[in-house]
Amino acid sequence: PRFLNSGKHDELFYEKLWKTIWGGEVWRGQITNRRKDGSEYIEDMTITPIRDSRGENSNFIAIKYDVTDRMQSEEALKASETLYRATVDAMEEAIYVIDSDLRLTLFNNTLHKWSEQFGYETHHALGKNLFEAFPFLSPETKEDYKKVLETGESLVTNEKFQFGDRVFHTETRKSMAYQNGDAQASRFVTVVRNVTERVQQERDREAIIAVASALRKTLNRSEMMPIILDKTLELMDGKGALIAMLDNVTEEIILEFANGAWKDLVDIRLDPDECATGEILKKGTLCINNDLLEFPGKFRVDLTGNLQAVVGAPLIAAGQAIGVIWVGRQRPWRKEDGSILSAIADMAANAIHRSTLYEQTENRLEQLQALQAVDQAITSTLDLRLILDVLLEKVTSQLKVDAADVLLYDGSINMLRFAARYGFRSQSTQRTVLRLDEGYAGRVVMEGQIIDVPDIEVGLKGLRPAPIFAVEEFKAYYGVPLKARGQVQGVLQIYHRSPFQAGADWLDFLQALAGQAAIAIDNAMLFEGMRKANLDLRLAYDATIEGWAMALEYRDQETVGHSRRVVKLTERLAQKMGIEGADLVNIRRGAILHDIGKMGIPDHILLKQGPLTKEEADLMRQHPIYAQKMLSAIEFLRPALDIPYSHHEKWNGKGYPQGLKGKNIPLAARIFAVVDVWDALNSDRAYREAWTKESVVDYIRSQSGKHFDPKVVKTFLEIVDDLEDGES
Ligand code: C2E
Ligand code: SIN
Ligand code: SIN
Ligand code: FE
Ligand code: FE
Repeated sequence: PRFLNSGKHDELFYEKLWKTIWGGEVWRGQITNRRKDGSEYIEDMTITPIRDSRGENSNFIAIKYDVTDRMQSEEALKASETLYRATVDAMEEAIYVIDSDLRLTLFNNTLHKWSEQFGYETHHALGKNLFEAFPFLSPETKEDYKKVLETGESLVTNEKFQFGDRVFHTETRKSMAYQNGDAQASRFVTVVRNVTERVQQERDREAIIAVASALRKTLNRSEMMPIILDKTLELMDGKGALIAMLDNVTEEIILEFANGAWKDLVDIRLDPDECATGEILKKGTLCINNDLLEFPGKFRVDLTGNLQAVVGAPLIAAGQAIGVIWVGRQRPWRKEDGSILSAIADMAANAIHRSTLYEQTENRLEQLQALQAVDQAITSTLDLRLILDVLLEKVTSQLKVDAADVLLYDGSINMLRFAARYGFRSQSTQRTVLRLDEGYAGRVVMEGQIIDVPDIEVGLKGLRPAPIFAVEEFKAYYGVPLKARGQVQGVLQIYHRSPFQAGADWLDFLQALAGQAAIAIDNAMLFEGMRKANLDLRLAYDATIEGWAMALEYRDQETVGHSRRVVKLTERLAQKMGIEGADLVNIRRGAILHDIGKMGIPDHILLKQGPLTKEEADLMRQHPIYAQKMLSAIEFLRPALDIPYSHHEKWNGKGYPQGLKGKNIPLAARIFAVVDVWDALNSDRAYREAWTKESVVDYIRSQSGKHFDPKVVKTFLEIVDDLEDGES
């Protein structure tokens, strides 16, 4: 027993061994032994007992083979099979092998897992026909294997499977696996790869590129939104889509654009605290609800129709959630759908942001131009009517409202009076005069600030809208005080035929226009006032002048009507000599006042019945000097002094008070001198009777170049034929 020196076998083993061989039986088995260098080896050993003559086992023949090499290669084969199996199982691809009768002979763990996911049984699939095991395979698959068999080449195909709501895209490679080179006993190896994600990603990318390129072509927000919605519906296979935006002014949600089954969901306003859109805006994250009817939460199911599943993504521009894009349908949405919608929403938000900026810039430019136009109207004219017409035209076009009017405050009656309007259909406001305690306009003046009535139905506390609102179908109203230099000049009123909520930009622009209008009105009124004051003053002066002349005539009884007559004739003669405009006005005034200096002549001289003594005549000759003294104190009459001061100068220099000669005598005075003598000689005087017309004409002709300017006489003689005796 010493030959067995392995420590690898326990006592029991040896006991059995010895029992066997001492029992006279042959023992066969393997034992592990150890070589001298310590390495192990396996022995295949047969021990045969040899009986002696007494029939006892006294010797044994042991035949040993070192079987280490053989054992090891067998083990290696077993190990490699396990490894192979593990490898196949570990693969991401599903692999199955079928024989030429399409019976499943092998499949890997991946296929098993997929089957479980999709609700198929594979435990008893081995040995079954492929189509029996996987009934969802298309019949064409059979043709594919036939082709592979014929050509001996691999075939790659793409398939799409639908399991419930899940879509599964595959890429399948079918190949021959020859066994022992025998084509008949051949098998098919099929490798199936799951490419769902790749297909989905490709589709998403295409979708997003489509949306992006659609958006790139448009700058206008109202063109853009329908495109976004249509593309979204198409790409996501939805039934209805809508864009809900946050209104920064009212802080409401407005369903702004919609399509498909939701196409009527526009112009609807929602409270952000009471709708799903509000929640998304608050959180800024995606929302999927696939069971809207069962679990509506904050969804307005009354709006979503019978669509069960909705997905909504926030529109985030410049870090701000400005709205939500919603898509709805019956089939549930998956997470991936949410990612597509998010991608679309990102692009849409950017595009909306960009177009809003663009439109704002354009608006600002237009507004600037409008302000400039109003400014120009103001500086180029002081006609209030014209200014207000330009203003109202700009107000309505720029603020995009239907109508506007201006009422001006009339301080003298403490009322508002209609001044101008634009966009009205009826005639009825033309003569509006409002007390300050009536109407919206009155309230604007009293409060001195904007009054807004975005919706007439809701109205303004304590004030019913004027009947004009019903007549014109106005639904919204804004009234702005027109204030300049701290004074309310009037009210600019804006009307719209549908309810209308103004934004901050709009109100800013309205204020700018109102400010300009107020200044314009103020300027125009100032000018108007000045013109009127001026006119009043002129009228007052002229009345004063005539009053003086009359007073003189009353004193000098016999010259009654003299001034009026000489004024008329002088004007006529002057005009014929080419005098016009302000010069004519001054000639007229000068003629009226020509003898005003006689006011300083005492009655006993002025009214003397006979010829004057030298002293009396000297005094009488002072009257032009008196006139000059009296009138030069009045600024306004200075240009009219030529006649009162110089009407007794003579062409030959022998007149008074200065003895001026020829053209040194002001023309007005030279003209007037002829008329004065004409009228004097045609009239009775205290000291003589009136002359006949012929003798007067003769006398005047005879004085040409002596007393009178020959040119004036010539012209005078041209008109004298038209004149009756004593007429002018
Ligand atoms: P008046 O009566 O208006 O006359 C104006 C001018 O008409 C006179 O300027 C004179 O140039 C001319 N004229 C008037 N009457 C006669 C006339 O009978 N013969 C001629 N050749 N020319 C006549 P004049 O001379 O410088 O007188 C200025 C003013 O002096 C007159 O204004 C009148 O108010 C007064 N006056 C002149 N002569 C007399 C007179 O003899 N008796 C009285 N009471 N007053 C006289
Ligand atoms: C909502 O915000 O509740 C309305 C959104 C929708 O119609 O899906
Ligand atoms: C108007 O008729 O223009 C005035 C309306 C109002 O202020 O009530
Ligand atoms: Fe005179
Ligand atoms: Fe006179």
